Amino acid sequence: MTEEKKPLKIAALGDLHVKDDHSTSYRELFGEISRAADVLVLTGDLTDLGKPREAEILAEELRACSIPVVDVLGNHDYECGHEDEIKAIIKGAGVHLLDGSSHEIDGVGFVGVKGFAGGFGRRMLGAFGEAAIKTFVAETMNEAMRLENAMRAVRATRSVVVLHYAPVAETVEGEPLEIFPFLGSSRLAETTDRFKVSAVVHGHAHRGRYEGRTPAGAPVYNVAFHIEKPSRRPYALIEV
Ligand SMILES: [Fe+2]
Ligand SMILES: [Fe+2]
Repeated sequence: MTEEKKPLKIAALGDLHVKDDHSTSYRELFGEISRAADVLVLTGDLTDLGKPREAEILAEELRACSIPVVDVLGNHDYECGHEDEIKAIIKGAGVHLLDGSSHEIDGVGFVGVKGFAGGFGRRMLGAFGEAAIKTFVAETMNEAMRLENAMRAVRATRSVVVLHYAPVAETVEGEPLEIFPFLGSSRLAETTDRFKVSAVVHGHAHRGRYEGRTPAGAPVYNVAFHIEKPSRRPYALIEV
């Protein structure tokens, strides 16, 4: 077995929703993850309201993490309109932010975007009618396109797609049916399926379920904090 093919142990976790009232703390969990895995993947909603102070608290707590960290932002990280500041704070903590980009660790390419909503399969929202609907759909398609461009740049034979929004309906099952279209978009899975992918991880659907597959068969894992996982821990452990 060559060094490059050695399995990489990934801890994946989403929806930390760090608050600035110190009611959340992940310091101990980051220490535990550093002993359990080779890489930590955070799937967005790092902060609860997108406040820079919340990102600063997370950056401070990430000092307890001694393994490489990659992440995408989630919709909550945009809430206050300070997403650029949040990106800078997180990057300042040594985190590899995937924002339509990729980052290779030990022969595995991590590639990510936040993604967007729009619904699944034949029921997904189409670009028809009012300008507002077209703008909404264009945002979904733009995120899918940014993912595609980032995936084209991956040279590693193994790759992990990191999203905030779900690419399939299977892993949002458990959420109210009425909000499925706001939890993700099949357009993300269509893009993923144009490439050979080892795993897809996402968050956002706090009450969804852990495991699903893209139409072409790539494994999809919803790793939002409160999802029950085979690891019996808040984080998923995935080997690629
Ligand atoms: Fe969330
Ligand atoms: Fe979210």
